[in-house]
Amino acid sequence: MSAQARDLAVEFAHRFGRVPTVSRAPGRVNLIGEHTDYNDGFVMPAALEFATLTAASQRPDRRLQVYSMIMDETREFDLDSPPEGPSGDWSDYVVGVALMLERTGFSLSGADLVVWSDVPIGAGLSSSAALEVSVAHALLTQNDLPFDSVAIARICQRAENDFVGMRCGVMDQYIACCGVAGHALLIDCRSLASRHVAIAPNLRLLIANSGVRHQHAGGEYNLRREACEEGVRLLSRYLGPIKALREVTPEQLEAKRRKLPELIYRRCRHIVTENARVLEAERALEAGDLAACGRAMNASHVSMQKDFEITCPEVDMLVGLAQTVKGVYGSRMTGGGFGGCTVSLVEASAVEKASHILTDGYRIGIGRDVELFVCAPSDGAGLISV
Ligand code: GLA
Repeated sequence: MSAQARDLAVEFAHRFGRVPTVSRAPGRVNLIGEHTDYNDGFVMPAALEFATLTAASQRPDRRLQVYSMIMDETREFDLDSPPEGPSGDWSDYVVGVALMLERTGFSLSGADLVVWSDVPIGAGLSSSAALEVSVAHALLTQNDLPFDSVAIARICQRAENDFVGMRCGVMDQYIACCGVAGHALLIDCRSLASRHVAIAPNLRLLIANSGVRHQHAGGEYNLRREACEEGVRLLSRYLGPIKALREVTPEQLEAKRRKLPELIYRRCRHIVTENARVLEAERALEAGDLAACGRAMNASHVSMQKDFEITCPEVDMLVGLAQTVKGVYGSRMTGGGFGGCTVSLVEASAVEKASHILTDGYRIGIGRDVELFVCAPSDGAGLISV
């Protein structure tokens, strides 16, 4: 058991006088495939060692009592008279998951919960999905219910869509549920099938946190989604009844370019070319062609910057710096955008050099310190023995 899990179990025993179960769910980094998930397309994330832990024990009633060690706050809810809408804080993810589990047909008893996390918050590494999935795992465990990972990913996504009000896709919850150590997953967000893609042991994922806080729940993310939906609506006049941009090839989009408003065209171009890049990156990784994988990552960044317009000067600078380093195959912003982190695919022997360049360059260019994490892909949700 990790030191954190032990501390968490001790905190729990101290508060509730019982020995809890401890459920873990990781944050994630997405190697490539941004905003493609809600377009029924392809993504290639990996689970991180950063994770949220939820200690839990059943209660005889229908109350949920949750203490967050990170926020040092307690919230209480009654599953029989739950809040009607979100309150705008961390507890929305907990309530949302419990409500969606019940709405899907799971009947839950009450529970005492203590949550802890080392997933950086608001950095685009999916701290919310890690919280949702670890709470879902904890509640199911307490009720002796099975954790069907893909189905639970969908339920947690619904918690965010229907309770929190963020129209996210399924990627973050999927990888938090299904991640595999040493691998990224190529996920088909339409069929929900996935394939393991090995990350060779000589490679590292270098994550650089710009420190610019992204805020999805409001506007911009949902606006991008609406632009994609508008693209589908307009394109289906010409291409037949398509349901999502997943069904549109780059060639088809080019042929109908004049029929679309310029902005909608560029938003669509990001999605259709990004889907092709995900598949190209996967082929390249499988073939050991790291240069080709890196090219796809670099092109993905340009597309996010110019067509989807979800980057910012700080992440553009980090990507530009990383791309100058020998041994860095590719670099791009990762996650929903408007700040957050970049991910670089780096030869292990080049990590030190890349770290120096990013640290010095960011200090000179932006006047602030970058936070760096060297990560290895980890496992998805599970129980930790206490
Ligand atoms: C956020 C969402 C995901 C996905 C990414 C962008 O992380 O939660 O569903 O859309 O942004 O790729």
